[in-house]
Amino acid sequence: MSRTKVLLVGATGETGGSIASGLLKNPTFEIHALVRPRSALKPAIVALQERGVQIRKCDLKAPEEELVEVLSGIDIVISCIGSADQQDQIPLASAAKKAGVKRFVPCAFLTVAPVGGIMWLRDEKELVYNHIKQLHLPYTIIDVGLWYQLSYPRLESGRVDYALTAANNEIVGDGNTPIAITDLRDIGCYVARIILDDRTLNKMVLAYNTVMTQNQIFDLLEEISEETITRNHVTEELVQNRVLASRQASETYPFDPIKFIPRYLAEYQLSWGIRGDNTPEYAKYLGYLSSKDLYPDFTPIDYREYLETVVKGTAKGIYTDRTISKAHQRMFPRTESTDSLQSRMFPRTESSDSLYMTR
Ligand SMILES: NC(=O)c1ccc[n+]([C@@H]2O[C@H](COP(=O)([O-])OP(=O)(O)OC[C@H]3O[C@@H](n4cnc5c(N)ncnc54)[C@H](OP(=O)(O)O)[C@@H]3O)[C@@H](O)[C@H]2O)c1
Repeated sequence: MSRTKVLLVGATGETGGSIASGLLKNPTFEIHALVRPRSALKPAIVALQERGVQIRKCDLKAPEEELVEVLSGIDIVISCIGSADQQDQIPLASAAKKAGVKRFVPCAFLTVAPVGGIMWLRDEKELVYNHIKQLHLPYTIIDVGLWYQLSYPRLESGRVDYALTAANNEIVGDGNTPIAITDLRDIGCYVARIILDDRTLNKMVLAYNTVMTQNQIFDLLEEISEETITRNHVTEELVQNRVLASRQASETYPFDPIKFIPRYLAEYQLSWGIRGDNTPEYAKYLGYLSSKDLYPDFTPIDYREYLETVVKGTAKGIYTDRTISKAHQRMFPRTESTDSLQSRMFPRTESSDSLYMTR
């Protein structure tokens, strides 16, 4: 039987790494990674090759004929490119249509949020989805809730700093808003099922592990760590003011991570913390299928078990390849919620490349 040829875009990233691992568990897939030439020698790419992933080199900004050629024979395209590069998927989708790709999975992998003025990132993604639909290209949109890896606060002892990207020590509103959360490592396992499933063609899917409130998360981490965590409540008014200020500051292009990170953070807090968008119920209302209905046999990684590994010091940190210099850290506007951990939060884009220290 011939294998399903999948092309993964963004395989060196956090989401892409999870998806590569999820697909590699199923021999049905022949996995190809589309890599921009400048990244072809990265250790992460070499490691993927050693695990059986085939590399196709091409820049997403290459002429369409090159993109069509690089997509030849591919059944499914999965894109998980970084937040700042969403529009680079537009020529890729056009080329996929010409190359006869049977399913295009654009870079969603976000929390649940409505379109139109709540989250800039959600709206950027919608432009891509709309383009796909205008092409009449078969698609599946997969959102995942908030990663476990971004969901919990810092401990004052500092012993979970190794795994964090930000202090995360704010409780939005009263802290009782339910949030759908998912272990980053499970995303690839969900994707491997979803892309072979006819029920998910031309549909949106919410793949999530569990639902927690911030108060429950803080309680659980206090219980596991036996440390008290200070609860810094931020009001709706403060979140709204941050959203307004960061939107005003980030109106200029090209993408500038120094300006956009505060906007991401504020708009996330607005959406999942104040509005309560990131729930399975709201996802259903918006028309999503649910992983719980589609795959009742799926056993996700347990949140408590994950937090236990974090406290033990054995969890894998995220964005650990993106340390930026102290001088650049000082350029970042500090808020009550930020500390030096945030140096790993910058998206890796051409415009942010100069920020990173070589490691
Ligand atoms: N739900 C959540 O809690 C959550 C959290 C974080 C992110 N996300 C979502 O996940 C998506 C992926 O984010 P991530 O943090 O996993 O990404 P990431 O780690 O920043 O990785 C981005 C990947 O995209 C590649 N890439 C970027 N621009 C490209 C281009 N023009 N051509 C080819 N490849 C390009 C990078 O390749 P190189 O190696 O060449 O740089 C890298 O492999 C984001 O859009 C965001 O919506 C969700």
